[in-house]
Amino acid sequence: ALISMRQLLDHAAEYGYGVPAFNVNNQEQMRAIMEAADKTNSPVIVQGSAGARKYAGAPFIRHMILAAIEEWPHIPVVMHQDHGTSPAICQRSIQLGFSSVMMDGSLFEDGKTASTYEYNVDVTRRTVEMAHACGVSVEGELGVLGSLETGEAGEEDGIGAVGKLTLEQLLTDPDEAADFVKQTNVDALAIACGTSHGAYKFSRPPTGDILAIDQIKAIHKRIPNTHLVMHGSSSVPQEWLKVINEFGGDMPQTYGVPVEQIVEGIKHGVRKVNIDTDLRLASTGAVRRHLAENPANFDPRKFLAAATQAMTDICIARYEAFGTAGQA
Ligand code: G3H
Ligand code: 13P
Ligand code: NA
Ligand code: ZN
Repeated sequence: ALISMRQLLDHAAEYGYGVPAFNVNNQEQMRAIMEAADKTNSPVIVQGSAGARKYAGAPFIRHMILAAIEEWPHIPVVMHQDHGTSPAICQRSIQLGFSSVMMDGSLFEDGKTASTYEYNVDVTRRTVEMAHACGVSVEGELGVLGSLETGEAGEEDGIGAVGKLTLEQLLTDPDEAADFVKQTNVDALAIACGTSHGAYKFSRPPTGDILAIDQIKAIHKRIPNTHLVMHGSSSVPQEWLKVINEFGGDMPQTYGVPVEQIVEGIKHGVRKVNIDTDLRLASTGAVRRHLAENPANFDPRKFLAAATQAMTDICIARYEAFGTAGQA
C-alpha cells in the first residue's frame, strides 16, 4: 500500500528504527528493493530524483512504483521525490501521486549555489502548505552537504554546492534547525553532519567518528519531533569496488560511511537514510563480472539478473542493520 513518509517515520520513531530510502530509476533497482523488503518484512521508501525523471521519464518512475505496490500489496511503500529544487517541481510530483516530496532549499534553484536562510524558509514553508493540503509529507534540508574530510559537496547529477564549504555550512546548527522547523512545519529534516553524495566521500579508511554524531544528538534534542534524514549514506562496499576493478573497471580507492556510524545516528533520531551509490556500485560490479565470466552471453536478462541479486543483497543488509526488518 502507498503510505506517506510521515506515517512511516512516526512508526520508525516510536519503535526506534531507521528506514533506508533507495533511489530508483530502473526496474532492476525497484525489484531488488521490493524482493529484499519482502524477504525481511520491511517497509519501503523509494525515491526518484530529477536525474531519474530525466532518464526514465516521470510516468515510468511513477508506474514502476505503482507496479511494485500492486505486486507486493502487503508492503507499505512511500513514493518520495528526492531533491526538488523549487515548489513548482514539488507541486508537479504531488500531482503525479507522490506521497512525499523533498524541497531542498539549501541550494538555490540551480542546485549548485548555497542559498540564504530566508530563501530556504520561504520555499520550504510554501511547499509544506501545498503538500499538507494534499496529505503529502515534506522533507526539508538545512546546512550544505559535504565531506568533513574534503570540504567538498560530492557528485550528484546536478545537485551539490560548487567549491569548498566552510565548517559552519557543513554542520547544521541545532538552534537554527529549531527555528526552521517552527517556521516551515516540515515533517523531516535533512541535516549536514559530514556525509556527501556519490562514491568519493573519504580518501582514507574512516575510523572513529567520521560523522558529527554529537551534532546529530544536539539537533535531535532541540527538535525531537522532527524526523532526521541522512543523505549521502552509501557505505561504498570495498568488495564491490574490488570486483569492479578486477573485471575491467578503473575506479580510484575511496571510502563511504560505515554502516555502524549510520546505526549510531539512528539511535539519535535519524529515521530516513538515503542510499543510491551502493546499489550503482553493486550492479556495475555484478554486470562486469557476469559479462567477463560469460563472454558468449548476449541475453541482457542474464546480466541484469546478476545485478538485481547483488542489489538485493545490499538492501537486505541495510534493512537488517537499520532495524527496518520485521516492521512492515
Ligand atoms: O539524489 C540523489 C541521487 O544520488 C542522485 O541520483 O543521478 O539519479 O539524479 P541521480
Ligand atoms: P549516496 O550517493 O551516498 O548514495 O547518497 C544518495 C542520496 O543522498 C540521495 O539523495
Ligand atoms: Na530526499
Ligand atoms: Zn541527497
